[in-house]
Amino acid sequence: MGKSYPKVSEDYQKDIQKARRKLKALIFEKQCAPLMLRLAWHSAGTFDVKTKTGGPFGTMKHEAEQKHEANRGLDIAVNLLEPLKQQFPTITYADFYQLAGVVAVEITGGPDVPFHPGREDKADPPPEGRLPDATKGSDHLRDLFVQTMGLTDQDIVALSGAHTLGRCHKDRSGFEGPWTSNPLHFDNSYFTELLGGEKEGLLRLPTDKALLEDSAFRPLVEKYAKDEDAFFADYTEAHLKLSELGFADA
Ligand code: HEM
Repeated sequence: MGKSYPKVSEDYQKDIQKARRKLKALIFEKQCAPLMLRLAWHSAGTFDVKTKTGGPFGTMKHEAEQKHEANRGLDIAVNLLEPLKQQFPTITYADFYQLAGVVAVEITGGPDVPFHPGREDKADPPPEGRLPDATKGSDHLRDLFVQTMGLTDQDIVALSGAHTLGRCHKDRSGFEGPWTSNPLHFDNSYFTELLGGEKEGLLRLPTDKALLEDSAFRPLVEKYAKDEDAFFADYTEAHLKLSELGFADA
């Protein structure tokens, strides 16, 4: 998949660098890296490769999209970012939300995911129902990530490792609890916990368990649990792809 990134002005590049620093400070201060990563992912993960609709194009700023069932709680992320976004009127929401996702991974000790600016803001939110249902299994994950978004099995497992950060909230998803014992630390503990068996206080969703049961997913879980560098390399590639779905396609 060849990418042909748009040329942005030098001033835009400078604003991105400045915004990146301010985002680091904000996300650090509010301890909201997990929520920001979820915002970036839910913004991008609506992409449909067949119709070229949805994707990381800033539409989450609209209340209509924040009100989608799967996006509960993301209004908090949008509102946390808004005062900072106001300081950078030239940067698109599309770039801003994806930059926040990249910064969230970086400042919690995760890999440096490359960031290419130049996404446009689109007017219309995607239809509801394009994000995964946590109560389902591997067929559902493949339908969404592979058939609809155009990603791969490897991307599914690597991206699931983002649950190294954060937690479920009863009033948002109906689930409760973190996946790991250090939810502000981006490492491979999602995979080691998944293989380690149930533990008091830690949670796993049906979609997390599906990674253990599927014969193509499981070897990747084992690989990432053993080798954090391999996880970081594949996560970087997958996050980059996710953040650029429908963007700069040649
Ligand atoms: C594989 C399918 C996925 C399912 C079914 C799923 C499901 C969920 C659910 C139910 C929550 C809890 C929301 C809440 O109650 O606050 C959650 C949180 C989260 N998800 Fe996922 N997720 C998936 C993939 C991903 C991906 C691809 C990423 C990022 C690359 C991601 C990043 C996160 C993060 C960081 C949180 C924590 C948010 C917080 O602490 O506020 N998830 N996810």
